[in-house]
Amino acid sequence: MDTNIVLIGFMGTGKSTIARHLGAMFAMDVIEMDQVIAQREGMSIPDIFEIHGEQYFRDAETDLLIEMQSKKNVVISCGGGTPLRERNVAAMKENGKVVLLDARPETIYERVKDDHSRPLIEKNKNIPFIAGLMEERRGRYTAVADIIIQTDDKSGQQICEELIRQLGSQT
Ligand code: S3P
Repeated sequence: MDTNIVLIGFMGTGKSTIARHLGAMFAMDVIEMDQVIAQREGMSIPDIFEIHGEQYFRDAETDLLIEMQSKKNVVISCGGGTPLRERNVAAMKENGKVVLLDARPETIYERVKDDHSRPLIEKNKNIPFIAGLMEERRGRYTAVADIIIQTDDKSGQQICEELIRQLGSQT
């Protein structure tokens, strides 16, 4: 790959799974932002939100993205809220193609319902809440994306093939 790939999208759109696939397919390093932040802080994402607050977590995301700007041959799997900050977007665009993974709220709900690692939806894990938050973010996500991929009812392999096809047609 002659460009880094930056995966964005709402929680549960499959960013981590697709990052792993791409990493294996193209021998790219995978940077899972949530995981790196949790490791560095020595605590889980819910604990970071609980103890330090959301702004602290958002600052850690910005710092990490800026650090990643200079990397080559990487797939960066962002947190769902990473593109909401303008300066994060500049850092993403600096050194990669931004790929938005999208899915229906119903699909998201099925994917996240048994997971307890997402503080922003933990107390509101239902389709209307997810749909509302997705709607709030949709404009931002689509404005930032170079490529958009619908992931409902598709395998990881199919999503990667579509991504590669779209990347090819842009270069
Ligand atoms: C968030 C998404 C999460 C994580 C944090 C906040 C968000 O990442 O960064 O809980 O604001 O959408 P995933 O999209 O990987 O679940």
